[in-house]
Amino acid sequence: MKIVVIGTGYVGLPHAAVLSEYGHEVYAYDIDATRIAAYQTGEADDIERYVNEPGLADIVAENLNRYLFFTTDISDVIEGADVFFFCTNTPPNRDGSTDMTNYLAAANHLAGLLAARRNKQRVVLVNKSTVPIGTARLLEEVMQEQGVENFGVASNPEFLAQGSAVEGSRRPDRIVIGADTLEDMQILRRLYSQFVNHVRIRYLETTPETAEAIKYMSNTLLLTYISFWNGVGARLAEALPNIRMEDLKIGVTSDARISTWGSYVSNGAGGSCFGKDIQSLIYQLNRAGRSTDLLQAVYGINEYQKTYLIDRAIHEARFSFNQKTVALLGLSFKKRTNDMRDSAALRVVESLLARGVRAIRAYDPLAMEEAQRNWFNPEKNHLFERITYHETAVEAIRGTDALYISTDWEEFRGLARTIQTTVKAPYLVIDGRRMLPDFDMLVAAGYDYLPVGGALLQGRAGGDRLPSENGHEIGKPAPVAR
Ligand code: NAD
Ligand code: UGA
Repeated sequence: MKIVVIGTGYVGLPHAAVLSEYGHEVYAYDIDATRIAAYQTGEADDIERYVNEPGLADIVAENLNRYLFFTTDISDVIEGADVFFFCTNTPPNRDGSTDMTNYLAAANHLAGLLAARRNKQRVVLVNKSTVPIGTARLLEEVMQEQGVENFGVASNPEFLAQGSAVEGSRRPDRIVIGADTLEDMQILRRLYSQFVNHVRIRYLETTPETAEAIKYMSNTLLLTYISFWNGVGARLAEALPNIRMEDLKIGVTSDARISTWGSYVSNGAGGSCFGKDIQSLIYQLNRAGRSTDLLQAVYGINEYQKTYLIDRAIHEARFSFNQKTVALLGLSFKKRTNDMRDSAALRVVESLLARGVRAIRAYDPLAMEEAQRNWFNPEKNHLFERITYHETAVEAIRGTDALYISTDWEEFRGLARTIQTTVKAPYLVIDGRRMLPDFDMLVAAGYDYLPVGGALLQGRAGGDRLPSENGHEIGKPAPVAR
């Protein structure tokens, strides 16, 4: 089949690449010419500068100009196409609603071209981007307004997670198709023939609106799950004596109805989707006149979690960040990606700078270029001049007063020894990911250890906890105004 993928970011590129593996003729289109030029080289370094996903560059190189073609001119490729996928980004507006500018620009542009096409064969226009409930219907109107003939609209939400995008596209747990007619369902069954009747993949056909709602419900349930663990499980293990976080996790998740995913407590869930999608769902429900108390609480708990350990460092460990130098290990929102959208590290940096740190010494195996280019540009905020970037974790730690682990990169697991050989106690280690299995060695050597999901362990005081400051309730997120 001839497929056109519109938007070639974290979703569009893996989707296009994996479809090309199954022998479809795939045209991947983007308005960003430098991105398309990079993909066209077929070189891993060029491709990974935009989307760094295990195995992806190999699939692109293998299929380039055989089954997979890149273009910045969609008018060249619409004749004879069977299916168009919208994979443009849909970021949040300030009020939580979804910014549909890029999506609508792509839809309107395509409508004009489809109206003028010579070959009037059936085309299906599919939303893979996460878009508000009712968008497939909106797309139908956009097409009708411009006089497009013989088309159907569909919703086919994407469930892949970054870091395993290829795996998620090759072996999804489910394919959800929302379409209006049997004819369109059949076209999409042909497209996804490898998944139809698969023993392990659920292939669900439903209405476009149900499919759109499934996507928001899925992401919001996952974030609720994480916030339950961060907001209840971790708090218990931090505040009450003798509760072991790892045992708590095993004990509760051993119920076969519950999975371990989400119980890895952290300094908040980041990424481009959970935050924006829960805000969008709150906005959509509010607009329909329904209360969103639970969702607002979940969103608030997750946002607060991103700076909560700094609050704990000040009030429990009595650490003053003013004029201190802090090592920040991990910038991306999770391991195995260079993506920093909504990463906890953004809020950590903001909070550290607001508290007057003299310098932040940063290290991340993949995201440092991204950080300097797009997030901490000193031309936009002169305080970012206080951030320096280092080739290794050891380099970043050298000469600092405290250390903050923000991302769950595996290489941080061996840091306990590195810390001891690089900086002298007294020294505060803040662990937002529970990455140090050897923390007891550190504490025995006099270092203070403050982990998410665990009490403050003080080196010199032999592990006793200091009482928290009077009148300060740690762990209470500010209410979310909507
Ligand atoms: P992204 O920012 O990585 O990529 C979007 C791409 O669309 C960019 O390359 C951009 O240049 C291109 N684009 C923008 N406007 C365009 C236009 N008018 N015509 C053609 N191309 C255009 O975004 P993403 O992370 O791939 O997310 C895409 C959508 O998928 C979003 O709705 C997101 O919520 C959803 N989603 C993302 C993930 C994820 O893990 N990132 C997972 C599931 C769903
Ligand atoms: C998430 C969903 O997992 C995907 O199913 C969905 O398709 C995608 O959003 C989307 O709609 O964009 P992603 O954001 O790529 O995928 O990454 P996750 O692996 O879900 O992690 C999100 C955040 O939660 C990360 O910061 C991660 O470290 C954190 N997390 C995850 C925890 O803190 N604890 C956990 O146990 C799991």
